[in-house]
Amino acid sequence: MRATQTELRLARRMSRLGTETAFEVLVKARALEAKGRDIVHLEIGEPDFDTPSNIIEAGANAMRKGWTHYGPSAGLPALREAIAEDVSKSRRVKVTADEVAVVPGGKPIIFFGIMALVEEGDEVIYPNPGFPIYESMINFLGAKAVPIQLREDMDFRLDVNELKALINDRTKLIILNSPQNPTGGMLTKDDVADIADAIGDRDIFVLSDEIYSRLIFEGEHHSLMSLDGWKDRVILLDGFSKTYAMTGWRLGYGVMRADLATHISRLMTNSNSCTASFTQVAGVEGIRGDQSSVARMCQEFKRRRDLFYERINKIKGFSCKKPKGAFYMFPNITKTGWPSKKLADALLDDAGVAALSGTAFGAFGEGYLRFSVANSIENLNKALDRVEQWANKNL
Ligand SMILES: Cc1ncc(COP(=O)(O)O)c(C=O)c1O
Repeated sequence: MRATQTELRLARRMSRLGTETAFEVLVKARALEAKGRDIVHLEIGEPDFDTPSNIIEAGANAMRKGWTHYGPSAGLPALREAIAEDVSKSRRVKVTADEVAVVPGGKPIIFFGIMALVEEGDEVIYPNPGFPIYESMINFLGAKAVPIQLREDMDFRLDVNELKALINDRTKLIILNSPQNPTGGMLTKDDVADIADAIGDRDIFVLSDEIYSRLIFEGEHHSLMSLDGWKDRVILLDGFSKTYAMTGWRLGYGVMRADLATHISRLMTNSNSCTASFTQVAGVEGIRGDQSSVARMCQEFKRRRDLFYERINKIKGFSCKKPKGAFYMFPNITKTGWPSKKLADALLDDAGVAALSGTAFGAFGEGYLRFSVANSIENLNKALDRVEQWANKNL
């Protein structure tokens, strides 16, 4: 037997892998709870609703009926067909089942999409503040991460002139996200057309993360995929986690030209083999079944957004735009005089409110906090009471 443990020498690329801070804050908050503290959880980005019962039934029945085996790496034909029909309708563009890759959640489309398209040294433009996995994956895969700042004075839409200035011969991929995490910003129809013009006929792909496309409070969802001639240059990311409150089921998809979809499936064969079969059968029910739960959930998020918006803007040091979609509030906290991370830590430690520092979403998130409103009105009021008391005492 060896006396000493083998030294752990990780591959260098592991030092370039980022994280999603929400999960770390959740662990810290749970540790405080274990010591007896009462914490209001506004850190994690998942609907607090149960998965609709028709979907649960479909999943449980599928297990009983033997959908417990491997399936095709690209996804079950019935689900790919249902997704193709659904996306054809919602994005007003003809999509076929062979253009759909089913994967375990939305995240793998980010990982696999970048892995399949981007070489070391290529540049990828991505929104900042934005979902942290974009930057993490770009860096991990050896590409150059080029942030485009989303600004509050533009309602967190991106500035197309800035985008134009960032595009060059090394740009391989541009990542868009609307409605946006963490800001709730949404691209307008004109924005989408201007972005298409800015890219022009360069050889650039767009990863359009539209995972919150069904959670919209004002305005309409606009996708680059709907524009004439753009379908083959876009990877559309969408899924079931947010729309149908199915985060733990792990079910998402990408829609893209069929030849690229086969390569995403090869990555699936090499990593997961396939997405869980019974989960996919449940997904068919999600898409083809009763949609009233989606509308109800969206309505409830809107009610909570309105409450949070009213109250947070009355708290000393905080000012917040009204998000148009998703379920996050992203207040500006510069007037508190506190750095974002320190303020998020203080709210957790002193006030028992778990929120995320804006910097968890990139450097341009400094000066902001993110609160998820995927919690009850009662808990939101409790959190706001606590933040208010904390601000009155400490600012
Ligand atoms: C913008 C964005 N894209 C993708 C995802 C990943 O979703 P999933 O849980 O389906 O992997 C999330 C989840 O928070 C998100 O906010």
